[in-house]
Amino acid sequence: MIAPYEFKTLLLGSNNLRCNNSPASDFKSEVVHIHLTDYPIRINTSELYLSSMSFERLITKLDDKERYWRSIEGKTIAVIGYGNQGRSQALNMRDNGVNVIIGNPPDEYRKTAEKEGFRVYEIDEAVKNSEIVFMLIPDEVQPEVFSHKIADNLKQGSAIVFASGYNYFYDLITVPSYVDVLLVAPRMIGFGIRDLFLKGKGFPVLIAVGKDYTGQAEEKLLALTDAIGALKPGGVAVRSSFKEETLLDLLTEHTWAGAILYMFRLYYEVATELGASPEAIILELYGSGELAEIAESMKQQGLFKQLKNHSHTSQYGQLSRGRLFANEKVKQLIKKMALEILDGTFAKEWTLEQKSGLIHYKNLYKMNLEHPMEREEEKLYRLLGRIK
Ligand code: NAI
Repeated sequence: MIAPYEFKTLLLGSNNLRCNNSPASDFKSEVVHIHLTDYPIRINTSELYLSSMSFERLITKLDDKERYWRSIEGKTIAVIGYGNQGRSQALNMRDNGVNVIIGNPPDEYRKTAEKEGFRVYEIDEAVKNSEIVFMLIPDEVQPEVFSHKIADNLKQGSAIVFASGYNYFYDLITVPSYVDVLLVAPRMIGFGIRDLFLKGKGFPVLIAVGKDYTGQAEEKLLALTDAIGALKPGGVAVRSSFKEETLLDLLTEHTWAGAILYMFRLYYEVATELGASPEAIILELYGSGELAEIAESMKQQGLFKQLKNHSHTSQYGQLSRGRLFANEKVKQLIKKMALEILDGTFAKEWTLEQKSGLIHYKNLYKMNLEHPMEREEEKLYRLLGRIK
């Protein structure tokens, strides 16, 4: 059971984001101060997306490319972190002619960046030597790294770019008032970003201006979205907000992505009780890779339209029986989870969990890895040569 964390007080305040003359100037926000048991969490209660904006919500290419690129001309970009996202975004930007340096502590990632020809600095030095900073280290470590190594080294008029809305939305990171804050959040794993780029293709990305200090945040946002390769053919940038990105990202994880894991467990338990073999079940559920094919068909053809690739029996079974899981109770649960994301309940719980040594997290892992299905999976994957 996840322990419920008590709210002590709920204070409401308000704050308008500085937007100068950008098209985002109607982006008003309120900040809710929620003082929870130990750690205060501030939440930006701005609209989910900027529906009142005059410009297009979806961008597939930049018409007046030069106008946008001028905003980053001659600027050095420090990519902080050379992991999943950092490596791919840094390589893509360099190939697009941008001056990129890397900020990374001494570790294997740093060695890779050096091997791949980048100038690598300690994080504070990289920030000092740049005008645009990409925050591409794990979300959990960002607040501490930001406050110790980044905040005081950001130049006036520089920009910080996040790939996830989480830390800025929950105000776990407070960016100095003299810096533009941008969100360029790929909907693509790091490897895919590089792979697609090399094939001349783009990828989906959610973008937003969190704060426009210079009055050039919009131009920088689009130039950088283009620089990482998102707007190559097939790619799309979706106007969003830190709030919307955080909600959608977490809601995916909390609902279907998590549910599918536990649903497979229940399926396994029922099918083995009825005498089915573990190997057949695991291959049926996910071991065969059919799931990935279905996901690809959803992407190419549509959620329900891809059903036509299945037999009529399968189609009827999915349509008539699958529907029973989509009941009002489940909808209310999804809604509860969404509200717990928006009001900071989940973020608060996760912060406490990290600060208390990840006890619950480790227990959940342990509980799941001790399930008999795991041993059967290991045997099967060993036999198939997937693990040694
Ligand atoms: P990652 O886990 O691959 O980051 C590894 C890098 O972080 C390495 O360079 C490592 O040296 C550095 N690092 C780790 N701990 C550090 C510490 N304590 N201090 C300084 N540097 C440290 O990170 P990933 O997955 O690329 O995520 C980066 C950002 O991109 C996050 O905000 C994440 O939410 C976002 N994002 C990630 C996606 C993905 O495909 N993994 C997809 C979309 C967004």
